[in-house]
Amino acid sequence: MRGTDNKAKLKHVIEAKQFSERKMLQEIFSKADDMAAKDAKGKLPQSLKGKRVASFFYEESTRTRFSFEAAILALGGKVVSTEKASQFSSVAKGETLTDTIKILNCYVHAIIMRHNIKGSAKIASETSKVPVINAGDGQGEHPTQALLDIYTIQKEIGRIDNLSIAMIGDLRYGRTVHSLVYLLESCKGVKIYFVSPKSLRMPEEYLKGLKDAGIQFEETEDLNKVLDKVDILYVTRIQKERFENPEEYEKVKGYYTVNKETLKKIKKDAIIMHPLPRVTEIDPEIDDDPRAAYFRQARNGLYIRMALLDIILG
Ligand code: CP
Repeated sequence: MRGTDNKAKLKHVIEAKQFSERKMLQEIFSKADDMAAKDAKGKLPQSLKGKRVASFFYEESTRTRFSFEAAILALGGKVVSTEKASQFSSVAKGETLTDTIKILNCYVHAIIMRHNIKGSAKIASETSKVPVINAGDGQGEHPTQALLDIYTIQKEIGRIDNLSIAMIGDLRYGRTVHSLVYLLESCKGVKIYFVSPKSLRMPEEYLKGLKDAGIQFEETEDLNKVLDKVDILYVTRIQKERFENPEEYEKVKGYYTVNKETLKKIKKDAIIMHPLPRVTEIDPEIDDDPRAAYFRQARNGLYIRMALLDIILG
């Protein structure tokens, strides 16, 4: 497994493929279950006591930043933090990413970083002596999101093999679906339906990985064609901020909406996931349907991140 020497020595978390070994996934799931049970009893381990973690975000975040910071505090660690790092750190004065990482190494035991440029987490990890956790790098990857996604699938459906999943929306720029595709490559009997406008198709590099891994997939623009076939609808936001040309965004804005009519057409035991935030692609009118799993999914992120921090720093 890349980024690790053995299971006790997971260091940097840069890409989802680091977690392709089933044993490693099971260890993280089991630890996350344990964290949730201990949290319910108010008995979380204080395994990060004495540890300082930098939460360094160049891009906006609600779930990733707050769940990581809450996890650090709950496990007895301390957080030093900046949002909008390009504005509120010396990056604004022209300091390079490499220098910034070297400086953070002087102060903290780990760095959680969200950056707007694909590949930046890898560059940071090549400089850093302390662990770097990729909290999303532009249109690249979001490996901790993929872990909480696959953990949610395990909890909601009871298995991560022999599944059919529709990934819907912005598959071109969506880092959550890129990382999830990499994790699904290691699952058996998976069928993926990629549902997107033509301009937002899943990039070829990810499709090639699936072909090489022998995973079945189909691409379509028509959501209705797949609704009764899938166990999971993984809905994503069409990300206005990633478009260089606003006119291109206007053409695909609001392309898909999952609502009460959609629910009539899906399997009774299918689940609806979304990494969130959402805008118009899931109507809040379905939030109370038991199949709407996206808020449970966000909650699972807290325990997956506790588990990762405990493994890396505990
Ligand atoms: N899912 C996710 O990454 O959400 P945030 O952008 O709010 O962190």
